Amino acid sequence: MTELVLDVRAVSAGYGKMPIIKDISVHVDHQQIVTIIGPNGAGKSTLLKAVFGLNQHFSGEITFVGMSIFNARTADLVPLGISAVPQTHNVFSSLSVDENLDVGTFAAPPRDAEATKAHILELFPDLKDKLKQQAGQLSGGQRQMVAVGRALMSDPKLILLDEPTAGLSPAYLEVIFDLLLQVRDSGVSILMVEQNAKQALQIADYAYVLVNGENAYEGTGAELLADDEVRRSFLGGGGAP
Ligand SMILES: Nc1ncnc2c1ncn2[C@@H]1O[C@H](COP(=O)(O)OP(=O)(O)O)[C@@H](O)[C@H]1O
Ligand SMILES: [Mg+2]
Repeated sequence: MTELVLDVRAVSAGYGKMPIIKDISVHVDHQQIVTIIGPNGAGKSTLLKAVFGLNQHFSGEITFVGMSIFNARTADLVPLGISAVPQTHNVFSSLSVDENLDVGTFAAPPRDAEATKAHILELFPDLKDKLKQQAGQLSGGQRQMVAVGRALMSDPKLILLDEPTAGLSPAYLEVIFDLLLQVRDSGVSILMVEQNAKQALQIADYAYVLVNGENAYEGTGAELLADDEVRRSFLGGGGAP
């Protein structure tokens, strides 16, 4: 049986008085990777911000494990079990890797911070011998691991990731996506926005295409990869995936 973790129903949200996303519906089940793709400016980041209480909500409903979180404050969402990795500035460059991970416990201390950290270092073994290094000295991929690791330090049920592979080389992109599969398999649901759409759909249990702030297509990652129209318009060409 699947368990609904996040249910965004007909949500309109934006900044000031202006709705950017309109009547958007998205859901994420337990232990699922759900990917949002779509053109630049479609409202993908705005959707993640709406879930994380970072902008103006106009209408609709958002529930997290059955509780309404519509208009909830970010500071209250972290203790409930949601954490987020923003698109940029997602590590503290002058802090060590270890300190960055510790920052992840401030808003919602996990039951056993040391055990949680040990578990995260099992998932991201590359970070183990870099704990004392400044995060700013790491490669882009390693910084991304630190950012995701920090988000996991509060023991969330759901993490929101805005373009976790932006700027990474194709080889590193695969590394990060493999890690996200492991994070999912460890019991955490993932809602992520991605520009590397083809690869992101390959690891997605379910996916949505947003266009002009509205739901345009949805289906399993495999279904969207096989859809001619989606391929032509959003995956850079009509060839077989
Ligand atoms: N803080 C903001 N204030 C006002 N408008 C914004 C803000 N952030 C984004 N927008 C506008 O919202 C629209 C969607 O942006 P965004 O959600 O960042 O798109 P995407 O992530 O899909 O590229 C854009 O037109 C952008 O200019
Ligand atoms: Mg964005």
